[in-house]
Amino acid sequence: MKPEPPVRVTYVAPANIAFIKYWGIRDEKQVLPCNPSISMTLSHCTSTCTVEFDARRTGDEVWFRPKGGSFEPATEAFVRPVLDHLEALRRRAGTAGGCRVWTENSFPTGAGIASSASGFSALTLAASEAMGKPPEDAAEASVLARLSGSGSAARSVLGGYVQWPARSGEDSGALPAVQLAPADHWDLRDVVAVVDSAPKGVSSRHGHRRAQSSPRFAGRLEELEGRLEVVRAAIENRDIELLGETMEAEAIDLHHVAMSSRPPIYYWKPGTLAVLWSIRSLRSEGVPVYATIDAGPNVHAICPAEFEPRVSAAFESMAEVESVLRDRVGPGPLATSEHLSEHVGG
Ligand code: PMV
Repeated sequence: MKPEPPVRVTYVAPANIAFIKYWGIRDEKQVLPCNPSISMTLSHCTSTCTVEFDARRTGDEVWFRPKGGSFEPATEAFVRPVLDHLEALRRRAGTAGGCRVWTENSFPTGAGIASSASGFSALTLAASEAMGKPPEDAAEASVLARLSGSGSAARSVLGGYVQWPARSGEDSGALPAVQLAPADHWDLRDVVAVVDSAPKGVSSRHGHRRAQSSPRFAGRLEELEGRLEVVRAAIENRDIELLGETMEAEAIDLHHVAMSSRPPIYYWKPGTLAVLWSIRSLRSEGVPVYATIDAGPNVHAICPAEFEPRVSAAFESMAEVESVLRDRVGPGPLATSEHLSEHVGG
């Protein structure tokens, strides 16, 4: 029998920005969150991942191309969770063989722009398909992406506005994400003020572990049920004021928990506060724009489409802002035949 030729599959998967954050982990092995989260899937901040699966190969290889750089073997810290995830997907597919993986991001990595969500969502889709066992539906894709270790990846396999897990409650952590509304329901924009593009000092993985040591942790959890309801209603009714006020309070609460964890985690930089003030000043001029900040120093400003030029112009004029990324709600991951490996002669 002739051996099977290697199979290459490539996916482009988007990052997402959480309106209600996942912060705190109940079970690290199963990646079960302490609370449900709600996010908007983005369009332009993406990870592209090519997986070449070869049944005759032993061992995996991972190459990473930083934004503006060239492909290099990925670092140990980057590679470890990728190799673990490939192993789990191989077991699920009931196959042996090795993978070569090429991955790149269209935006700064590890700086609070959810590169793990887009990266692990693209890897999950490309690797499972290359191994001959793609997920049966979006729900299974979401569960598989979560098991990579990046909970927020469970949301990036879907487009539009997404909740993960699908409902609240003690036994809901293993449920997949669900779409609350498709991307064309509401054209919201995410203008990201990058005040520091260097990778953050403390990973979200460590942040999740430490969250429960904060005296604010339990208080935030109590408020979350109400916040989830409000954000769901705000999305349904396209109500930016309602969404914005709750989303901003929620983001500040996450950082309150992080800064009061033991030992504390300070993701903010001086530029973070400068951008928050500029958003308040835009609001006082009648611009409906609201801030949210993931586990990093960079500020995501959420606003309806018509206000995007005004918001990005304000950020571009600030000395504290390194660069401005303009993004918008998007439809979710896509397969492509433009394999990354071809660019490095693979
Ligand atoms: O999925 P992780 O482990 O990278 O954690 C994501 C944490 C936040 O980005 C801060 C919040 C979120 O829900 O995306």
